[in-house]
Amino acid sequence: MTAHGRTCEPVGPGIAGSALPAPAPGWTIDADVVVVGSGVAGLTAALNCSAGGARTVVVTKARLNAGSTRWAQGGIAAALGEGDSPEQHLDDTLEAGAGLCDEDAVRTLVTEGPAAVRRLIAAGAAFDLSAETGEIALTREGGHHRNRIAHAGGDATGAEISRALVDAVRDRGIRTVENALVLDLLKDADGRTAGVTLHVMGEGQHDGVGAVRAPAVVLATGGMGQVFAATTNPAVSTGDGVALALRAGAEVSDLEFVQFHPTVLYLGPDAEGQQPLISEAVRGEGAHLVDAAGVRFMQGAHPLAELAPRDIVAKGIMRRAAEQGTDHMYLDARHFGAAMWEARFPTILAACRAHGIDPVTRPIPVAPAAHYASGGVRTDLSGRTTVPGLYACGEVACTGVHGANRLASNSLLEGLVFAERIAASVLASVRTPPGPVAGDGAVGSGTVGNGAAVGG
Ligand code: SIN
Repeated sequence: MTAHGRTCEPVGPGIAGSALPAPAPGWTIDADVVVVGSGVAGLTAALNCSAGGARTVVVTKARLNAGSTRWAQGGIAAALGEGDSPEQHLDDTLEAGAGLCDEDAVRTLVTEGPAAVRRLIAAGAAFDLSAETGEIALTREGGHHRNRIAHAGGDATGAEISRALVDAVRDRGIRTVENALVLDLLKDADGRTAGVTLHVMGEGQHDGVGAVRAPAVVLATGGMGQVFAATTNPAVSTGDGVALALRAGAEVSDLEFVQFHPTVLYLGPDAEGQQPLISEAVRGEGAHLVDAAGVRFMQGAHPLAELAPRDIVAKGIMRRAAEQGTDHMYLDARHFGAAMWEARFPTILAACRAHGIDPVTRPIPVAPAAHYASGGVRTDLSGRTTVPGLYACGEVACTGVHGANRLASNSLLEGLVFAERIAASVLASVRTPPGPVAGDGAVGSGTVGNGAAVGG
């Protein structure tokens, strides 16, 4: 057991401590810290490490902006509004987490969150402003008793955050390696982290297996939605970080708590892979869940009706569907009208229309799909895993803030807050030079070039 609930200890030959079969690294880069992944968590960690003087390298499986962050629609939750407080945000998070959150982790999230969002804005992310007050516009999503979701571009919050952070990383000249699938953690003779091996896929002088040698590794590889048939996650979300951590002997927690988003565009029973998300913010702005006869079924099921925590709404949809011998329900937001759809939810409107559904004139068919790994690689409040020098941040991590069920829009915030904490810990620790790498001869001292896949 851990403070977060259940723990899956890596056990058994062939799992714990084993490495993937791979050729010896043909090239190496030396750094103080290597960040694996380029969503909000990874890039925030990288920016803060670099700003503190650490030689920082970001490696990412596809392009810098290809991870889950770019797809986040609804927004980022923080107690920024009048009358709201971290304490109320804490209460909503604990309730959604069904009694399995780590309260210290949640308190850290909600108290440090508002300032972290302001720093994100200062770093260049442009959030939507209220036409009346000129302050950040705040909406509501499931499980929140207050309007506390900041958004950008209407329903393109993640895309704006990703743009701002990628720009900032490029402006700082942080070294990046794209198209690089992380393979294994390198450890020194004392079992401390000493870097990672990677396979760069087919671009630039770094093609093939290489290594970044660093005494601190930050896993920010995102989720694993692609292990399910239908998911909101992009193709890169295949659980690589958890797999690496298990092979490295790190503890993982709460992997069974995979969150299903209630309202994903239903494209038929055989739809596979990434499906278009219909943000909870659509319900936050007043859309109703209805069955084929147009009857609302979440009223009476929970005091917050369609805005109950998302596990409750997902179950409500599946229950009603089963009762009616179908596999989906409908989200009715025709009353928004075309102007509001175009201004507030342009991304969702375009996605629906691309599939022949006009939400201005007909209800949107929806069904739950895999959305978020609430568990992951277990960390403390500084993002440290049980392997010295290995950190985890964002969806790959289990800080304990989500418990059994993540509160809507807490994930971008978790990435921000805990990435800043990780950077502080890394900067304090990287002053000690790494020891010799186990199997050092294999890692070698290959040349570092400036191929197309390598920037910075
Ligand atoms: C949404 O926009 O509904 C997704 C937000 C989240 O997963 O937190």
